[in-house]
Amino acid sequence: MKNVFVFDHPLIQHKISLLRDKNTNTKEFRELVSEIAMLMGYEVTRSMPLKEVEIETPVGMATARIISGKKLGIVPILRAGLGMVDGMLNLLPMAKVGHIGLYRDPDTLEPVEYYCKLPVDAVERDIVVLDPMLATGGSASAAIRFLKEKGIQSVKLMCLIAARYGINRIVKDHPDVEIYCAAVDEKLNDHGYIIPGLGDAGDRLFGTK
Ligand code: PRP
Ligand code: URA
Repeated sequence: MKNVFVFDHPLIQHKISLLRDKNTNTKEFRELVSEIAMLMGYEVTRSMPLKEVEIETPVGMATARIISGKKLGIVPILRAGLGMVDGMLNLLPMAKVGHIGLYRDPDTLEPVEYYCKLPVDAVERDIVVLDPMLATGGSASAAIRFLKEKGIQSVKLMCLIAARYGINRIVKDHPDVEIYCAAVDEKLNDHGYIIPGLGDAGDRLFGTK
């Protein structure tokens, strides 16, 4: 699929394996999510435009390149997306951060919005939505829809583990959105959990279970 990018870099794959391991503790899990987000962010920002500027070095003039074009915004889906924010901000310290709060109704698996706060200039930014898990795709699809309803035109989705079902849902609902992930898993169970996945990302990040 032309809009789906799966990162097969050995460092990312190694860290994803540690993340999946049920014996990985909360501290390690949090560190791994942040590290993987930073490694993925490096690739996700590859298409950022550059412009030439003249810079005076201590010994002469240099024609150098700096990032130009639209500024970036990152929007984690609460809660679990929060775990990816620091990794991205390490790379992009000037990025603004919006938040969308969604939880999945355990019976219907439909996303329910409980919070939304975006940068005032969000419509002028390229937005990267962050969520470690893309399962049914309901949460990410709803988050992207909210952003578009607010006038945001440029959206990318960055997740760690994506179920094929969720990928298909985003491709269908938002064919303009590029999806970046580190692993694609084939199955969902009856509760909408990705199999083998890594369990409940929010609970593992915050130690709530
Ligand atoms: C998880 C995950 C996604 C969503 C994915 O959040 O972080 O947001 O489920 O599932 P979907 O693709 O089927 O919508 P959850 O609802 O468990 O909330 P939490 O982050 O607060 O734990
Ligand atoms: N949310 C999670 O945290 N894990 C899954 O496997 C599916 C949804």
